[in-house]
Amino acid sequence: MKELQKKILEEGHALSESILKVDSFLNHKVDPSLMYSIGKSFAEHFKDMGITKIFTIESSGIAPAVMTALQMDLPMVILKKKESKILSEDVYQTTVHSFTKDSDYELTLSKKYICPEDNILIIDDFLANGEASKGTIRLVEQCGAKVTGIEIVIEKSFQPGRKLLDKQGYHVYSLARIKRLAKDTIEFMD
Ligand code: G4P
Repeated sequence: MKELQKKILEEGHALSESILKVDSFLNHKVDPSLMYSIGKSFAEHFKDMGITKIFTIESSGIAPAVMTALQMDLPMVILKKKESKILSEDVYQTTVHSFTKDSDYELTLSKKYICPEDNILIIDDFLANGEASKGTIRLVEQCGAKVTGIEIVIEKSFQPGRKLLDKQGYHVYSLARIKRLAKDTIEFMD
């Protein structure tokens, strides 16, 4: 998506060979018009595929996910990150490890907001190691529902997440695919 690539080049900062800072339009301050365009592209890609709900993970996935949900006229569900397990029959939970943050959290979904007939579209801001997507897939599949696709705003293609999800047969659509980061350098895949 050209508009997104332009924004990343103008406002993004490669902090290291693995971290891209995009606080000015995605992770801290949010650009609503860019989020709307992202939602349009995401909605177009999975139209007519029988999606019933959009799932995202708090917090930076919410803006692109809500714009997509609006344009697909679908409900959106935010998966919560809890610090510890909840002893309740009412939720699905799974432990997710973040390599970027070197920490674990309990990804949590209320059983009220999913049913076995659902076809879920997962939306997130970044794809790095794929742990958040894998955790979301586990929760959806625990219920007996299906993950129809995964949409990502910025994929760091040099990290393992994309290959891993491709290998497992999931349909992944990313709007910006980054081949390489280095101090003050951002390179996209062709
Ligand atoms: P993974 O799901 O692909 O395995 O990613 P990982 O756990 O490694 O990432 C953990 C958090 O770090 C996620 O945010 C993810 O969006 C963010 N992240 C990963 N790589 C980058 C990067 O290069 N730049 C930025 N800006 N963020 C990155 P989170 O903890 O869920 O936070 P948030 O959604 O509340 O912002």
